[in-house]
Amino acid sequence: MSTTEAYTDLPVFDHDFVQNLHARFDQLRAATPVQRMVTRDGLEVWVITRYDDARAALADSRLSKDVTRLQLVINEKLPPVADRREFASDLAGHMLNMDPPDHTRLRKLVVKAFTARRVEGMRPRIEEISAGLLDAMADRSEVDLLDAFAFPLPIQVISELLGVDETRRDDFRAWTNTLLDASDHASAKQAAEAMAKYLIELIEIKRREPADDLLTGLIEATEDEDRLSEQELISMVFLLLVAGHETTVNLIGNGVLALLRNPDQWAALVADPGLVPAAVEEMLRFDGPVIHGTFRYTAEAVEIGGVEIPAGEIVWVGLTSANNDPDRFAEPKRFDIKRDAHGHLAFGHGIHFCLGAQLARLEAQIAIRHLVERFPNLRPVGSVEDAQWRFSSLIHGLRGLPVHPGT
Ligand code: HEM
Repeated sequence: MSTTEAYTDLPVFDHDFVQNLHARFDQLRAATPVQRMVTRDGLEVWVITRYDDARAALADSRLSKDVTRLQLVINEKLPPVADRREFASDLAGHMLNMDPPDHTRLRKLVVKAFTARRVEGMRPRIEEISAGLLDAMADRSEVDLLDAFAFPLPIQVISELLGVDETRRDDFRAWTNTLLDASDHASAKQAAEAMAKYLIELIEIKRREPADDLLTGLIEATEDEDRLSEQELISMVFLLLVAGHETTVNLIGNGVLALLRNPDQWAALVADPGLVPAAVEEMLRFDGPVIHGTFRYTAEAVEIGGVEIPAGEIVWVGLTSANNDPDRFAEPKRFDIKRDAHGHLAFGHGIHFCLGAQLARLEAQIAIRHLVERFPNLRPVGSVEDAQWRFSSLIHGLRGLPVHPGT
């Protein structure tokens, strides 16, 4: 297929696209495996929609995540009237924005501190926080499940894990929200600066008073006499905080929405909470919180799905689309907590596979189990078909999820 045939000038990620994400991806996937599209601000990107292509692209070292070159490519491609992107340099130097060997070095150091044991050690606190948040909902007839439960849980967990001061947690939520908002580059820059300033102070405190937390672990982590520099620490903590805030929230939110839309699946979980781990995998597959992997660009020409993508092009790997590809998952639109959702790409694939996957799974499994056990009669307020999605090209999450907890 020629590149022109793969081109569509539909603006991607306008409100209509986000509101009807699955239907739009179904159309794209059925039409052609790789679509050349234009974003709202005029950036041309190549969107990969099928499972096999997405998995291969995520493992392809010719698709680079080097942020400095990526920023140049993006700014060159933007039409003259559009805002130039400025990725805040203090925060952007983290491993998700790097290729090997820099990525390999940073990931090795972080893995020393962010261990499976440390994550598992959070289990009792996650149980306690979940139970406390749900207790607080018990005497309310109507509540927004995102505000009351899905947001505070991961924020509290990642903050405690890292050792972030309790009084600053609301600031963090505001900063990360602003940073992920697709529309306002100036406020995003301000939020990034405020966050960087706080992180510098926090690292300073931990250096003076080491504690039994992940941040101290990161400061102390060594590999062959190598350590994270001050700058690397700041951007690493930033990455962990943002990734730890905005993803698990929406895994819980989108997952509960799917359960409410499929009362037989909710009833199956209430009857057998042992199904929770499988249910969480199906939630990740069916409506995971990350629409795309982050941007990549072609360091050299690549052929994906029979389409030749020249060097120097921006590529979006459609994780949500891949996970709903009927060639990989039979009847993908059926939300079925008993299916084998194994192999979904919600956490990415390859060298950048989500470092927080174990933590996210643990949090979501505990959250969902507590919810079905505490409120087996949970019902939506109004129609579940009216769900409104947030406007973001990265995060797939609800604006709110009003429910009647019941008893
Ligand atoms: C990377 C998804 C939760 C930390 C990624 C990537 C995806 C992802 C898709 C790869 C992006 C790419 O290749 O472009 C998710 C989802 C989560 C979640 C769906 C929750 C349901 C978390 C949590 C943390 C975390 C809780 C940490 C506390 C990271 C880090 C990376 C990453 C550090 C970069 C890894 C690297 O570059 O080697 N995540 N994430 N994530 N995630 Fe997560």
